[in-house]
Amino acid sequence: MYDKGKIIGGLAIFLCLAAFPAWYIAASGKADYRPNPVLPLSENQCIESKEYMKQYHMQLLQQWRDSAVRHDVTTYTASDNKTYDISLTDTCLKCHSNKSEFCDTCHNYAGVSPNCWECHNIPSNTASQETK
Ligand code: HEC
Ligand code: HEC
Ligand code: HEC
Repeated sequence: MYDKGKIIGGLAIFLCLAAFPAWYIAASGKADYRPNPVLPLSENQCIESKEYMKQYHMQLLQQWRDSAVRHDVTTYTASDNKTYDISLTDTCLKCHSNKSEFCDTCHNYAGVSPNCWECHNIPSNTASQETK
């Protein structure tokens, strides 16, 4: 004969552990969390397409820096032929004026912390423009 109680008890513990990720997520509510960067209200277009920016803004910024610092070229011509001044502070953060509700929401989620702000200014006078 075997001990039914022990087997059921053991089975319960096993199922509980096996299902750990599922109940952990359910209890902590983390599965639903997505960063929700606040987009500018007064503009409807970024420098390149939203999908491109989402994926490649880091490379674009690097290209901008090299262009301005190494080649002295301070104007960027986008793929739709619009031109922009190459400037992290005066261009990107002019539209995306609330860094903490835009750049930071994604970066905190992704666990990256670009060190750009050790040297580049964050505009502070426009911080509340982007509330939705
Ligand atoms: C002229 C205003 C403007 C400028 C300048 C601008 N952006 Fe944008 N950006 C926008 C708008 C508007 C959107 C949303 C576009 C859409 O919904 O199609 C956006 C979208 C984005 C996104 C995607 C956000 C998401 O939710 O997926 C990223 C990343 C981004 N911008 C980064 C930058 C960076 C970095 C720069 C500077 C190199 C920059 N932007 C310059 C207006 C601007
Ligand atoms: C839609 C989400 C999103 C938004 C909005 C966003 N970023 Fe990012 N950013 C990311 C992700 C994700 C990474 C990491 C990508 C990787 O490692 O491949 C990243 C990486 C970067 C990096 C490179 C960091 C490193 O250490 O390699 C820079 C620079 C950067 N972002 C600048 C900005 C700036 C400036 C803004 C605001 C104007 C911004 N990002 C807005 C998602 C975002
Ligand atoms: C150690 C200081 C320092 C750090 C950190 C730094 N930069 Fe810069 N960056 C500079 C200096 C200095 C210039 C040249 C400014 C000029 O020519 O007016 C510059 C120029 C630039 C430019 C072109 C002009 C402008 O004003 O925007 C871009 C774009 C840029 N950096 C992007 C970045 C990004 C993105 C990061 C973070 C990943 C970063 N930088 C981190 C010091 C720094």
